[in-house]
Amino acid sequence: MSLGRGIVVRSCGIAVPDKVLTNDDLAARLDTSDAWITERTGIRERHIGGTTSSLAAEAGQLALDRAGVAAADIDMLVLATTTPDAMVPSTASTVQELLGIPGGAFDINAACSGFVYGLAVSAGLAATGTDRILLVGAETLSRITDWDDRKIAVLVGDGAGAVVVEAVEGPGNLLSHNLHSDGSLRHLLYCDHGGYLYMDGQEIFRKAVRVVVESAKQALDDAGVGIDEITMLIPHQANLRIIQAACQRLGIPEERTAIVIDRYGNTSSASIPLALDHALQTGRVNDGDLLLLTGFGGGMSWASAVLRWGA
Ligand code: UT7
Repeated sequence: MSLGRGIVVRSCGIAVPDKVLTNDDLAARLDTSDAWITERTGIRERHIGGTTSSLAAEAGQLALDRAGVAAADIDMLVLATTTPDAMVPSTASTVQELLGIPGGAFDINAACSGFVYGLAVSAGLAATGTDRILLVGAETLSRITDWDDRKIAVLVGDGAGAVVVEAVEGPGNLLSHNLHSDGSLRHLLYCDHGGYLYMDGQEIFRKAVRVVVESAKQALDDAGVGIDEITMLIPHQANLRIIQAACQRLGIPEERTAIVIDRYGNTSSASIPLALDHALQTGRVNDGDLLLLTGFGGGMSWASAVLRWGA
């Protein structure tokens, strides 16, 4: 046991399938239009294909390369996903073999909040003695989508994002986190065994804005930082209008918000690291910057964290 240790996040890496599906591609076979999808969701295209494990491994390898860390030096693989390759074993087991990671490996499912839940799990692992963790959010939502259902088909995308997390002595850079779930709302977003994704979009929309704002404010308060000190808000990417409503209520301008929903659609637990990576690659996040991460989705689950970027 090494209580009194915190975490730093060293690097990020992502992977998306090559195949791109535009709004016009969908409009060619469904009763929908580019205008409807763009106006109601902010999505313009999404990447489709691959397996959750292959995308997770590709993103994980890139994160390792960028951190200059060998797979052999990772002690634990934590994989957030709602679309595992199989019921058993965990998708993390496959990724572990693909990457050659020697330590433990397991999946977590907190739907679109999975990546923030994974950060909290990583902090707990670090506090109790794990030195290096590869945290991945990876999804192939296209596999549980009814492509004849315009209500869902226009929303989803596939992809993965990963970060290398390291334990450090002292409080570390995860300044606060909160995790929530209200299981009485699980009927709003679910997928039964062998079935397709169902979502009560309007109801989730209404609740999402409220809980995101509440939990983001709680994370700021617990970290003892004001919204003006946040360099970048990194929200789950479910709908541009949800992001805009949250930004407005939190008092953070859209310029300080990572938005990638236009290019990737909703990728559930992959969406926060995909957005984080875009902010990093476009030079909008640098070492020492404060980030506010916030996710919400099936469960209904929601979670927020304040993270200082870099080692
Ligand atoms: O990942 C975490 C959880 N998910 C979310 O947070 C998603 C939250 N919800 C949403 O993003 C939005 O509710 C949606 C994008 C899913 C839907 O947007 P909306 O503005 O709430 O539309 P709506 O469901 O109220 O539907 C408006 C109209 C309906 O037609 P009528 O009844 O007004 O004639 C729908 O049948 O739009 C129709 N519609 C469509 N039309 C064209 C629904 N889907 C489509 C479509 N193309 N793809």
